[in-house]
Amino acid sequence: MKPNVLITGGSGLLALNWALAIRDRYPVILGLHKREISLSGVQTRSIDLESTEHIICACEIAQPQIIIHTAGLTSVEQCESDPGQAQRVNVDLAANVAKATAKLGLSLVHISTDHLFPGIIPLVDEICPVAPVNVYGRTKAEAESRVLEAHPQALVVRTNFYGWGTSYRHSFSDAIIKALRAGKEITLFRDVFYTPILVETVALAVHELLDLKVGGIFNVVGDERISKYEFGLKLARKFKLDASLIRPGYITDQPSLVKRPHDMSLSNQKICKLLGRKLGDVKEHLARLQQQEQNGLAQELAPYPACGGVLS
Ligand SMILES: NC(=O)c1ccc[n+]([C@@H]2O[C@H](COP(=O)([O-])OP(=O)(O)OC[C@H]3O[C@@H](n4cnc5c(N)ncnc54)[C@H](OP(=O)(O)O)[C@@H]3O)[C@@H](O)[C@H]2O)c1
Repeated sequence: MKPNVLITGGSGLLALNWALAIRDRYPVILGLHKREISLSGVQTRSIDLESTEHIICACEIAQPQIIIHTAGLTSVEQCESDPGQAQRVNVDLAANVAKATAKLGLSLVHISTDHLFPGIIPLVDEICPVAPVNVYGRTKAEAESRVLEAHPQALVVRTNFYGWGTSYRHSFSDAIIKALRAGKEITLFRDVFYTPILVETVALAVHELLDLKVGGIFNVVGDERISKYEFGLKLARKFKLDASLIRPGYITDQPSLVKRPHDMSLSNQKICKLLGRKLGDVKEHLARLQQQEQNGLAQELAPYPACGGVLS
């Protein structure tokens, strides 16, 4: 029988795209906090992550075998201005989920980030010691330790993804698409590098890892290190949009932004070796993003209004 998959942070960008990617293969339950959502072929359930006991009760009712913990405070700016809340949401809730799932003997996937390093070295691997430069990174780094302490078999996934956004949550890719479709100029950083990946690819690769019953830290990112500016240009060309609307910008010219790593790229060699395949480059993921729109998936998530400006 297929295992039930419970995804916390069910209204978020990652959770919704993850649910869409696996709903034909597994029964999916989206665990909700404040925002109500509904998605065809997927159950939803309100879950209080504030205590281990509440999570255990919710799991006894929903009967998941796999929990994907995506809930978090994801705005770098918000984390910096409210470190207490960042600690509560990113660290304490993750620790609660890990304790509850360990006690119940459930598989846990904890979603981490590529934001854990100073950004000096490209293509960082899983054994490089973390050294975050801001509150968001520090809370995500502490969460990883607390999760693995409470649930040593958990999978900790370091990633940086995109997918189709919603009316209330912008994805980097659809912010660019919407702006260019509306004929608006945007500025993208030429000096910020990362290894982006489509959420669908993350989800399918992680379920392969779960099938292999492996745990520990894995970088689940795309094969290609690219600047945000170059990513925008490739996206514009793939979607036949006016790439001249994309202006090159430099993060070094934006001193008011919260300090961020300039190179967030991660190496995916560990997972590729284990799965015996590549995870795909930007061109492949963009082709799939386009297909998803043609198949009506973007419309299911209700696209949001166009926006312009500097996208970090
Ligand atoms: N976005 C990226 O590119 C990126 C990159 C690297 C890593 N990540 C990591 O990936 C994960 C998912 O990111 P995302 O972009 O999908 O997040 P998101 O769209 O910002 O959604 C965050 C989710 O967390 C929930 N949440 C917030 N506070 C909560 C609380 N106190 N209790 C329970 N749930 C709470 C929110 O529910 P409500 O809306 O109902 O409050 C929402 O469903 C995060 O762990 C993030 O650190 C993201």
